[in-house]
Amino acid sequence: MIEFEWKPDKTAKTPIYRQIVKYISDKIAAGDWVIGSRLPSQRAMALAFDVNRSTIVTAMEELLSYGILESDFGGGTRVKSNSWSLLMSQPPDWNKYISSGPFHANLPTIQTINKLEFEPGYIRIGTGELAPELYPNKLVTKIFRRMPEVVPHLGYLGPLGLPELGRALSERLQLEQGIEADPANIMVASGSLQGLQLISVCMLKRGSRVYTEAPTYLKSLQIFQSAGMNLCGIPMDEEGIKYWNIKGASIDSLLYTIPTHHNPTGLVMSEERRKALLSFCQKNCLPVLEDDAYGQLWFEEKPPKAIKASDKTGSVIYLGTVSKTMAPGLRIGWVVGPEAVVQRLGDVKMQTDYGASSVSQWMMTELLTSGDYDIYLDDLRRELKGRRDNALAALRRNFNDMATWNRPSGGFYIWLRLNKKVPIDKVFHEALQHGLLLNPGNIYDYIENHAIRISYAYADPEDMTKAIEILASIVEKYD
Ligand SMILES: Cc1ncc(COP(=O)(O)O)c(C=O)c1O
Repeated sequence: MIEFEWKPDKTAKTPIYRQIVKYISDKIAAGDWVIGSRLPSQRAMALAFDVNRSTIVTAMEELLSYGILESDFGGGTRVKSNSWSLLMSQPPDWNKYISSGPFHANLPTIQTINKLEFEPGYIRIGTGELAPELYPNKLVTKIFRRMPEVVPHLGYLGPLGLPELGRALSERLQLEQGIEADPANIMVASGSLQGLQLISVCMLKRGSRVYTEAPTYLKSLQIFQSAGMNLCGIPMDEEGIKYWNIKGASIDSLLYTIPTHHNPTGLVMSEERRKALLSFCQKNCLPVLEDDAYGQLWFEEKPPKAIKASDKTGSVIYLGTVSKTMAPGLRIGWVVGPEAVVQRLGDVKMQTDYGASSVSQWMMTELLTSGDYDIYLDDLRRELKGRRDNALAALRRNFNDMATWNRPSGGFYIWLRLNKKVPIDKVFHEALQHGLLLNPGNIYDYIENHAIRISYAYADPEDMTKAIEILASIVEKYD
């Protein structure tokens, strides 16, 4: 459905209906609104343009008479043609182009979230990102000041990224995760999502089976789906994925897991489960893709070591990122794996975007080697822990007999499971009317669920408290 980001100028000499005719015909002629696109109802257009319905009726009559719009059976209006004069050249049929290509469109709910996250006025209780006030401004300023002294050039980098960053990551992975990885085992990517993308396009065949936790972050990524993979959700318990339910793995299958501070459930896979999972996968020749986006964000005690740390046979590919600990805008992530795998990914990366931002890579190197990063991380953990406690207290006060939820030991997420079969899409839309933007659980799952992913990393504690009260009053009505 077409949306409008324009309003007529009521002070202009040109009549309002003519401005609307011009706006709509220009959009169609420019190819922004492709043939077949549906216009909103006349009532919705009157609201969007802040004009009387009769003005819309006049404008629509004129546009219909040009032959560029047509009424459809349901009483709506569609774009019929993009030229009102036969002399006008025809632009390409973009609709045909747009609907080809491997990517599915995002789910409408995800499209709405992606759009509204950039509009002011919403309390964002689902956003999986640090709040702007948690961004380490002073630290970044300090590092940027030093950049001219430490950066010899900002040219293209080699397939694995900046060697200095590779060395810094290699040291950190060993120190913090017990992962033995030489710089030759590490490829810097433009975010860990790109790591996933590269793995799916250059290591997996179409139709390969990819096992994931259910629910998982994957459902909203749709990366594997777009690459033609056959996704298979495996249920979880309190200790993590119930791997013994993996059946029918073939030689080109793969397991994708988020063992630490899982997105969206916040769970941490126990040490025993990690060991048993690795041993199961090794026995069954099933490679593991371990996504450790939240591993460093623990509160009370360190989580068990990464699965990759116990991998002595090169069965695990590990993904890391700075998006959750620092800033997603840096677009820096890394893939750790056997040399042959990393080289192949690096080669394809060079064919794709010729390397991640070198500014971000120099900045991360400075940050990781300066010692300031650890001080910053300690502060961040403390802040997130406070926000978690605040959100949990608000849930206890408002949702006590309406839902159950986890107490996350790190990361960003509380997985709020509603007791009743509440229509979660309706809750999502009603919450929007109250200025709340939330992430309904069904965008993460293979089957219908009645859960909501709450992230305490974005909204400030006061807003979060208010938001949980409002959410409870919405859910209560369905109880
Ligand atoms: C589990 C997980 N992996 C990866 C990402 C994305 O990371 P990046 O920004 O490095 O692509 C996210 C972001 O939400 C995530 O939750």
